[in-house]
Formats: sequence, structure tokens, C-alpha cells
Amino acid sequence: MHVLKNISILYTCCYDGGQGDLYSINDAAVVWHEGVIKWTGKELDLPAEFNSAEVYDANGAMVIPGLVDCHTHLCFGGWRPDEFEMRIRGESYLNIAKAGGGILSTVKKTREASVEKLYEKSAGLLQKIIRQGITSVECKSGYGLTLKDEIKLLKVYKLLQENFSVNVVSTFLGAHTIPPEYLNNREGYIRVLIDEIIPLVAEEKLAVFCDIFVEESAFSVDEARRILEAGKKYGLKPKLHADQLSDGGGAELAAELDAVSADHLEHVSEKGLQKMAEKGVIGVTLPLASLYTQQPYTNCRQMVDAGVKVAVATDFNPGSAPCYHLPLAMMLACNHGRLTPSEALKGATNYAAKAIGLEKKAGSIEAGKQADFVLIDTADVNFWMYHFGGSSVRGVFVKGKQIH
Ligand code: NIG
Ligand code: FE
Repeated sequence: MHVLKNISILYTCCYDGGQGDLYSINDAAVVWHEGVIKWTGKELDLPAEFNSAEVYDANGAMVIPGLVDCHTHLCFGGWRPDEFEMRIRGESYLNIAKAGGGILSTVKKTREASVEKLYEKSAGLLQKIIRQGITSVECKSGYGLTLKDEIKLLKVYKLLQENFSVNVVSTFLGAHTIPPEYLNNREGYIRVLIDEIIPLVAEEKLAVFCDIFVEESAFSVDEARRILEAGKKYGLKPKLHADQLSDGGGAELAAELDAVSADHLEHVSEKGLQKMAEKGVIGVTLPLASLYTQQPYTNCRQMVDAGVKVAVATDFNPGSAPCYHLPLAMMLACNHGRLTPSEALKGATNYAAKAIGLEKKAGSIEAGKQADFVLIDTADVNFWMYHFGGSSVRGVFVKGKQIH
């Protein structure tokens, strides 16, 4: 039995209530045993049965649930710093892709890399991600785009699951873009996805979700429907990259297919949001992608007002969001998406956990959940986002063990 004491403010981030309801406790304590939370409350009310628990001192820190990054493209070969400068000089994300950069240039480098090399790189990144207070990460494939290379990426994620205590959730994103060898035969690649890769990914249990990039430059709504339906048939739950560069009907499709989440939504329509709200599709905002591609930010306020639960994630990838700093994404979701700091925290914990099917284990500090929490050196969530520093994280606990 273990107890964390001397917590100035604890945000439990329970599911109930609305986007901004965090159910905070001042002068709190948390008790856990064998990695599972047993009790939370005011330290003064600590039941006598926990008197002999081993004590950890939070030194007056703020404590939040382990952050959940519910949208990353963690595993990839190479980097694309040249594109960063090109965009600053005025070249658009789409034009860079058309000129041979973009996703396909990462596909080339990813195909050339071995599982060992990719694992080494992703594991190094994951260690740094954990230091930002993140204890659950969703990871997408999508830079292989052949049966062999997509499986290779998903195997890297499987190795991460086996070797790290944090939660790693895998998503199959074979429909990230049309690979070069199928540029004149879209239907051919769609058939490979539906007939070969999806069945194998499902059979080998290499992913929980099936994602797709719905966009003029990637897949149409009709193509997405076919691919996601095929995924569903094999038990892979749908997720979508929707309405990022234009309003392409992705949000409506997400609602139609009962997707778990629709992500990006920079250009989502009011109608799309209404349909998402009706079906309880979570809207994932990815403000770092807007920051790095000089695109408009997702209007999170409009989403909350429409009744959509908003999760906040990084979209970490080598192109449109080469940054895994989730607290920074939260701060941008506040300043540009108009979420309050409390709303952003619920979006990066409870709702993010729900967006990747971890709601039973992660996303809040309450009895029965995994003992994943983070100590932050700040006064409260408002002050944390307001006086934003590089890292105010003072401790990261996963399943009750301090790993940072
Ligand atoms: O979520 N939109 C598509 N995929 C990524 C970008 C990937 C890349 O640029 O390599 C995204 O932004
Ligand atoms: Fe993405």
C-alpha cells in the first residue's frame, strides 16, 4: 500500500459533468495498491486503514491524471526539417507534398529502416514523451503502406507495449495516402487494404483502431466508408483524420460510422459537429499541426457549444507536427481554440482516454483505475497554462511506480 500526501490540489478529472468539470480536491491524498488506486480524498480524511501505507511526499505539487496523447504517428524513418523551413518561406504543406516531400518522403525512409532501428528511435522518443507527463499514447502506422511495412510499424508498437509500463494503443493507418506504386491505380491499393492488410492486422491483433486520412489529397468520403467498414467487419474501430485542410464531409462520415473519434476538424461544418454530438463522436483537436502548417486552429469553443466532447492531442509526426509536447498543445487549445485550462485538461486526460478505448484504466484519478499520475510544480491548472514553461513536471507515476 502506498499513499501520496502533501498535494496542494488534485484534479481527479472524472468523466461526469461537462468539459470543464474536473472534480478537484484541495490538500489531497491518493492511496494505491499493486498499481491500482484505492482511495482519493482530503489528506485529513485519510482512513485509518491506510496509516501504515508507504508515504510519498508531493511537496505541495499539483497532481493530475497521467496525460493521454490520443493521436500520434510515433514511428517513422528520418525527419523533414527542410520542409519546416520551406513552410516558413511560404510554401504550403500540400505543395510540398506534391513536389515529392510530405508523407511519401517519410514513407520512403520508413521502408528503408529495419524494425530494430525503428524500435530504437521510437523507444527514445517515448522516453522523452513520458517526461512531459504522458502515461498513455496512441500510435498510428501509416508510413509503410505495404503489407510488410505496415506490419513492421505495428510490430514496433507491440514491442513498445511489451517493454514500457505506459499504455501504448495501436492504430492501423494504412489509408494515410496512396503509395507511389499505386498512384495510377487507387482501386488497386484500396483492394490491398481491404482484402490483405486489414484482415492480417486484425488476425494478429496488431491494432485496436482503423484510421484514415479523408482529404482531397488522400481518400474520398466514399473510399473512406469502404475501408472503415472493412475494418469494422474485422473488429477494428473507426477513427478519422477529418476536415483538416478543407470541409470534406469527414465529420459527417464519422457520425454515420459511429467512429470513436474524428480528429483535426480545423474546417468542420456546423452540421458535421451536430451529427458528431448526436452520436457521441469525440472531437480531437491537434493545435500543433495548425501551428506548424500555418493553418487555422480548430474552434474548440464551437465544438463544446455544439455538445461535442473535445480531446486534445499532439499529432506528433515528422511533417505537420514534429513536436510531442502535449502541455504545449493544451496551451494552444486554450489560446487559439478557446478552451479554458480546465477544459483542456479534461481533454488531455479523461476524454482522450475515452478516444482510445482506455476509459476503464486511464484518464482520471479515482478508485479502481490505474495509479497513473503526474506531479506538476504550479499553483493550479489555470496558472499552469497561463505561466507556461517548458516543463513543470516534477514526477510521473505509472501503475503506482515512479518512472520519472
Ligand atoms: O495528421 N494528416 C495526415 N497525417 C499527418 C501528417 C503526416 C505527415 O505530414 O507526415 C497529420 O497531420
Ligand atoms: Fe495525424
